[in-house]
This record gives sequence, structure tokens and C-alpha cells, in this order.
Amino acid sequence: SSSELVVNVGEYEALAKQRLPKMVYDFYAGGAEDQWTLQHNTTAFSTIRLRPRVLVDVSKVDISTSILGFKVPMPIMVAPTSLHRLAHPEGELATARAAASMGTIMALSFSSSFSLEEVAEAGCGVKFFQLYVYKDRKIAETLVLRAEKAGYKAIVLTGDTPRLGRREADIRNRFTLPPNVTMKNLDGLLSVQLDKSKGSGLEAYAAGTMDKSLSWKDIRWLKSITNLPILVKGILTAEDALLAVQAGVAGVIVSNHGARQLDFVLPSIMALEEVVNAVQGKIPVFLDGGVRRGTDIFKALALGAEAVLIGRPVLYGLTADGERGVKNVLQMLSDELELAMSLSGCCSVKDIKRSHVQTTSQMFA
Ligand code: FNR
Repeated sequence: SSSELVVNVGEYEALAKQRLPKMVYDFYAGGAEDQWTLQHNTTAFSTIRLRPRVLVDVSKVDISTSILGFKVPMPIMVAPTSLHRLAHPEGELATARAAASMGTIMALSFSSSFSLEEVAEAGCGVKFFQLYVYKDRKIAETLVLRAEKAGYKAIVLTGDTPRLGRREADIRNRFTLPPNVTMKNLDGLLSVQLDKSKGSGLEAYAAGTMDKSLSWKDIRWLKSITNLPILVKGILTAEDALLAVQAGVAGVIVSNHGARQLDFVLPSIMALEEVVNAVQGKIPVFLDGGVRRGTDIFKALALGAEAVLIGRPVLYGLTADGERGVKNVLQMLSDELELAMSLSGCCSVKDIKRSHVQTTSQMFA
């Protein structure tokens, strides 16, 4: 299988690019407008240097941790990304099986191409459900209750998407869904038609459906319909981190939506420490965006994240090799993290301290 030829997660992208129709590859890979943030989401990690400690007994290194109280073998989760059937016929079912067999958590996208119930049955692992709120609030209420019933353990409320960012590749390609792929959770709730007559069908669809009035006060509404813990995804500032704490959510995800929303926002790794300092340990902080190496995860943990989420590499592994590809992505990242910890003198994730990294501002200070 193609996974045998791959030695790092970046190599799956090249395989996926060969295999996918251009419209799909561009949809997965692309970011907003000039893609400045897209470029820097990954390169910002290389401005951070490591400060390893030597002559530490690293004969036993344990990379396990817990996320919202769930014990996981690695501080790595699957980020919510839409429409996995564009990558592979088994779509989110394969992704869920891979995450479950690695023992880690998958956050299922609201816009998945198998229903949340189908995905719940596919793998026995812990799953979170990512929520978008449409103008018709009944849809969110229905899906949250369905997720709760199907055994999902948290709601990930995406806060950065009142409208879709301007993704120019999708406009150029007139992005639309092939006939065999639908947003399965919406069956019977809404008829999903992507009108590509003026550009990106997805952008037009989002413009017609997303509730742009969604605001911090709606956390109360969400809490009135579910007792599941709520994570707010898309936090990039101390100000919003404090509002999240005040709103009583269970955690925040520092994220710029894989650079697909507002261009020129901070690369997420650059926004992390500000958020960590603001919440003062009251709630856990997670991070996604540009994580491609075990050392990236090590850096995020050193700057205060409890775990990271992986977006595009999962889609590329899924494209190249289905369930096995996704499993291999998670395996390679955890192997790299374990090695980075061993070579830095850290035997557990708790041993990873701020002093293990040097950021650029310190370098030039
Ligand atoms: C996303 N992301 C996303 N986020 C979300 O909350 N709901 C969603 O449905 C989607 N869909 C989606 C599709 C695709 C193709 C991508 C690439 C991303 C954002 C995702 O959860 C995450 O924030 C980023 O993907 C993380 O960055 P990396 O790992 O892709 O660099």
C-alpha cells in the first residue's frame, strides 16, 4: 500500500494531489485570499527553536494525556473537517475507525458526508461533534440532541464562521458537490443545493444558511439544550479567551480554521501563548493549524496547549490509503513526538515546559 512508501505526514499531501480531482484537492489545500496565514500557519513553527535538556533518563517516555477527562494515548485529536467522502468512499467511517484504533478522539464535522449516527457506529472511540449554527436554530437543536443520543462526548462550537472566508480556488473551480456526496446530517432537515453559478457553491450555500447573529450570549442557549461540555473553536485573542471563560465553556481551541476564514490573522501557534496566559489554567487550551511534525506538537505543548488537532494531513492520509492512511498519520506524529520528547529530556507531557522552547522575540531581544 502507498503508506509503506511514506516517511512523514507531509508526503501524503503529494500523493493526495496526484490522486484527487483538482476541485477537491484545491478545496482541501486552499486558504483565504492571499493565503498569507495559510503559508505562515506552518512556517511559524520553524521560528520556534527547541531547548533540549540532556542526560535525563528517558528509558521510559509516556506521551499519553487526558482530554476533558478522557484518557488518550497521545495529545493529538482529529480536527473536524467536512466531506470526507470527497477523499475516499468510506469517508468519515474510515477516519473514525482509524482514530478509534489509535485510541484517540475524533471531532466530527457538522458537514460530514456520513451521518453522525453512522459515524458513531463505525468506531468505538470517544467522539466530539462540531456544530455550525444555521439561521434555522431548530437544526442545531436537533443535531445536538442527536449527537448526545449517539454518544458524542462534547460539542465543538465553531465561532469563526458567520460567513465563509473567500477561498479563491473554490471560486475559480466553481466548487460543488459530486452527486454521490451530501451533507448527510441534514437529510430530512434541509435540502442542500450548491449553486455554483457565481463561483464557489459552498460560499453561496453558507451565505444563505449560516446564522450571522450567533454571539457569546448564545452559549447560554446552547447550554440550555445540552449538558455536554462545550469547546469554542476559533479563538485567537486574549479578549475572546476571557469571554469564553466567563461564558463557562469547558475549553477553547486556538484556531484560524486552517487559514480558510480571515487572511492575515496570526498563525495559530503565534496566538497560543496569549490565550494560555489569559485563561490562567481555568480551562484547557487546544490548538490546531499547521501541525505537521512531532516537534510542532512539542512546541504547542511547551507554549501551553493540552493537545493539538490535525486537519489536512488526515484528509491526505485518507485519500492515499483510507483507514490505514489516517492511522499512519496519527502513528507517525506520535512516534515523532515521542522522539522529540526523548531527545529533549521529557518523560511525560507534563515534563514539557515553557523553557523547552525559545520564540523569535526572545531570540532578537
Ligand atoms: C476544515 N475545518 C473545519 N472546521 C470546522 O469547524 N468545521 C468544518 O466543517 C471544517 N471543515 C474543514 C474542511 C477542510 C477541507 C479543512 C482543510 C478544514 C478547519 C479544521 O477544523 C482545522 O481548524 C484546520 O484544518 C486545522 O489546520 P490544518 O491542520 O489543516 O493545518
